[in-house]
Amino acid sequence: MLKKILIAYASRTGSTTEVAERIGETLKGLGFEVEVKNVKEVTTISHYDGIIIGSAVRMFKLLPETMRFANRFRKEIQNKPVAYFIVCLTMQEDTEKSRTQAKKYIKPLLEIKEPVGVGLFGGKMDYSKLSFIWRILFKGKIPEGDFRDWNAIIDWATSLAETLTKVE
Ligand SMILES: Cc1cc2nc3c(=O)[nH]c(=O)nc-3n(C[C@H](O)[C@H](O)[C@H](O)COP(=O)(O)O)c2cc1C
Repeated sequence: MLKKILIAYASRTGSTTEVAERIGETLKGLGFEVEVKNVKEVTTISHYDGIIIGSAVRMFKLLPETMRFANRFRKEIQNKPVAYFIVCLTMQEDTEKSRTQAKKYIKPLLEIKEPVGVGLFGGKMDYSKLSFIWRILFKGKIPEGDFRDWNAIIDWATSLAETLTKVE
């Protein structure tokens, strides 16, 4: 069984950080050793058995540091199981249409390595955490609220744990 898992996330206003932490707690509860780190803080991945990369989405793209991280460790992750998750407002409702759109965001990661799991999660819009300019641009157009479905996040982490357990 794979033991040591890195969850490397990229976040601007903290909601992806909390999702990464919840996935980490779930995996720990299932017997894994987990470290949860911002992608910017990761200097090596050699001692992990598996990598989970998570990113917020902004302006139809993964955060740029997510791809910098994936490209930096592109070679090394070829030899380890990886899983990806994104946190975005597109997934505020889990429908076929929203999944189709969210899958487009995650495509650059899929091109780096085929994952053992992909999580598409609703995010959180908190105007108080945005700069003045975004607040003006979004007000009245983008709904404020927390659309993270913690049960879906925990279920995903639980089924990922099962998959990781089976990887040789
Ligand atoms: C400036 C800005 C741009 C965003 N662009 C998108 C987008 O293109 N597609 C989407 O689904 N969500 C978009 N979102 C919603 C975020 O993905 C969502 O709020 C997410 O929870 C933010 O994660 P974070 O708190 O970890 O930064 C955007 C949010 C902001 C503030």
